[in-house]
Amino acid sequence: MRILAIESSCDESATAVLDAAGGLLAHEIFSQIELHRVFGGVVPELASRDHVRRLLPLVRSILAKANTSPEDLSGVAYTAGPGLIGALLTGASLARSLAYAWGVPALGVHHLEGHLLAPLLESEPPPFPHVALLVSGGHTMLIEVHRIGSYRLLGETRDDAAGEAFDKTAKLLGLPYPGGPALARLADHGKPGVFTFPRPMLDRPGLEFSFSGLKTAVLHALRGREMTDTLRADVAHGVQLSIVETLITKALRALEETGLDTLVVSGGVSANRSLRTRLAEAARHQGRRVYYPRIEFCTDNAAMIAVAGLARLKAGQHDGLAIQARARWPLESLQQPPTPT
Ligand SMILES: Nc1ncnc2c1ncn2[C@@H]1O[C@H](COP(=O)(O)OP(=O)(O)OP(=O)(O)O)[C@@H](O)[C@H]1O
Ligand SMILES: [Mg+2]
Repeated sequence: MRILAIESSCDESATAVLDAAGGLLAHEIFSQIELHRVFGGVVPELASRDHVRRLLPLVRSILAKANTSPEDLSGVAYTAGPGLIGALLTGASLARSLAYAWGVPALGVHHLEGHLLAPLLESEPPPFPHVALLVSGGHTMLIEVHRIGSYRLLGETRDDAAGEAFDKTAKLLGLPYPGGPALARLADHGKPGVFTFPRPMLDRPGLEFSFSGLKTAVLHALRGREMTDTLRADVAHGVQLSIVETLITKALRALEETGLDTLVVSGGVSANRSLRTRLAEAARHQGRRVYYPRIEFCTDNAAMIAVAGLARLKAGQHDGLAIQARARWPLESLQQPPTPT
């Protein structure tokens, strides 16, 4: 079995070819960051229009790179949601049309299931069941993953996502979009302890998050001060530590509450070095193991969509002729793939 996958839920156009026996044959990502930077954030209509321009050439080049012709394919997977509806529709219509023309099934994949399953592409994949900390630009969730397709939400953010908190505070520091990675780099030069920002909801039981207050705290810290490089770096250090410590405490609490000892961290923020280092230390103390996708598969990519699509194809699932795209789509509403016969 071999599938082509297409991702277009936000500002990355991506394709991949995954083979059940041979593994990931090729993947490509075109990032629209340059297109949106001048606006300080993603402009949905521009994103859709750029996907229309990029996706078909990306499909052609990925098939060539993977030395694959349409006859070799057993299905076409695409991101069906959640995401920007126009952007999703571009990938969904292309994937659905190609599947129809090639006479193979199409599989509408849940974007977050893709993020959750991305670590399965690594040589040492995480065992099931485990707890997943999904930390991206749009989501911050703790999920109990029993097996592929069986997910129980343990807690999520009440307002801003962790990635969004990085991006919004980075903007306050004058960093260009997307600010997360830039803020993380700046934090390396900051002095620990100069600024201590709130660790929201750590003082209460439960597995929920709230990051929206961080923006106000940063705004207060900057008020009346001259914006020097030192000030920016010190604030960045404080912000990163506040987000990272909050994520780690809640993730370890989720392991405690579920009685599981494996943690998977995925989504864009899982690329954060401070998070990885501190979590490794905390987990080692408790004899727990942490798994991540490789750095390039932390943010949006089509390889993770291929993993989720292939699992569903193997289980005999596929979608009808309708083009599926949903801006909102609760992860828990996913049906688990039936056992393959
Ligand atoms: N090294 C890093 N440190 C902190 N944040 C980072 C780092 N690298 C990426 N990010 C953040 O990750 C986010 C992007 O991740 P991703 O592409 O998974 O999110 P998304 O696809 O926009 O959201 P979702 O998957 O929820 O729809 C951005 O908010 C970005 O700032
Ligand atoms: Mg994403």
